[in-house]
Amino acid sequence: MADTNFCHSLFSCIQASPTPFHAADFLSRQLQETGFVLLEENRPWHLEGGGRYLVIRSGSVIAFTIGETFDSDQGFRIIGAHTDSPCLQIKPHPMDGRQPYFQFGVEKYGGAILSTWLDRELSLAGRVTGLTANGEIVTCLVDFQKPLLTIPSLAIHLDREANDGRAINAQTDLCPVLSQTIADADDWNMELVEQIRKQYHEHPIRSILGRDLFCYDCSPPRFLGIHDDFISAPRLDNLLSCFVGMTAIRRCRSIANCMFIFTNHEEIGSMSSAGALSNFASATLSRIVDDSERRAICLSRSFFLSLDNAHATHPNFQAKSDSDHEIILNKGPVIKHNSSRRYCSHGQSSALFRLLCSEVGVETQDFVMRSDLACGSTIGPLTTASLGIDGIDVGAATWAMHSIREVTGSRDPELLCHVAEHFFDRETFPVISKC
Ligand code: CO
Repeated sequence: MADTNFCHSLFSCIQASPTPFHAADFLSRQLQETGFVLLEENRPWHLEGGGRYLVIRSGSVIAFTIGETFDSDQGFRIIGAHTDSPCLQIKPHPMDGRQPYFQFGVEKYGGAILSTWLDRELSLAGRVTGLTANGEIVTCLVDFQKPLLTIPSLAIHLDREANDGRAINAQTDLCPVLSQTIADADDWNMELVEQIRKQYHEHPIRSILGRDLFCYDCSPPRFLGIHDDFISAPRLDNLLSCFVGMTAIRRCRSIANCMFIFTNHEEIGSMSSAGALSNFASATLSRIVDDSERRAICLSRSFFLSLDNAHATHPNFQAKSDSDHEIILNKGPVIKHNSSRRYCSHGQSSALFRLLCSEVGVETQDFVMRSDLACGSTIGPLTTASLGIDGIDVGAATWAMHSIREVTGSRDPELLCHVAEHFFDRETFPVISKC
């Protein structure tokens, strides 16, 4: 049986995190409630032994704990994940001349399965930047939290090929409808300012200068199956892993130096000032261990556990998976392997991870793509390459990855969390010696 409290906490995390900016905010608030201190990148840091800290950069979060007598030579045990999910981003200007309905143009953000965005209850969330009454420039998180938009399908009577692999044109077919009563962009800006006023109980922004707004599925996560065997939710890739990493670091006893690195922009290649290809992780580590010799020793003894969801074998499309590496929901964390290092896992790091799992009674599974299909990738290879540390790519088994609703086993999040907690809390980190 799944731990329903644990799953409901995951559901709350997903609902509070419609965008990476909200995810970073939610994770930061949860961590600060358990004694983590927020550090600002533009101020000096004064770190103390036994301290718990976090840093935020544009939808990315790094949190870390340092041992009572901080010994950087022990290295860091690091969990990684990404805060973003594939979705539709609203274009800067609404569509012109579309009466009688008010509509937006959208851009694809990441590799979403576009057909799954049709006929859903969509809402809008993101970040709005503008001027206050006293001329200050401020930025606010905004989330409408209610069904606001729809992208209607074309009726089958008007499209007899609807069930025969019809292509979807993101420019023309995916323009969400917001309203029949909003007339123009000025009306819409007033609605946005009003929403900010409702959320912040004041009127911080008088005129809007910039916005990063995204459509999201606002139907809540749910248990699924006659015995609640599954979870159906938006953004399981990769808020599930963020939730697991956050829970593990909140619960850890801080014997070791522990860290999580949750980065934005994985779904669009990680190349941004806050993504896994940025200097966010290396700059943070340089400030924690400022001596370059000590830092080199610290990194050489660090390990990166990269968490991102893994493809479960699809019951209707079994031929799409390698038949010798079946992945089943609720059967434990999946180690992801790829000879071209699209995943950073290898035999030695897999051995370490399997040892950790066996010590807490959790089974593992091994994923490898069919050799005649191209393999996806994630933050593991990017972060281990840029920091020069060893690591492994692991994740919870998932169906329908990048659909607006993804499915995982209801026990999979807690199984992954058992191992993540043990990764942080094990007295010493296992060291592999040569035969
Ligand atoms: Co992912």
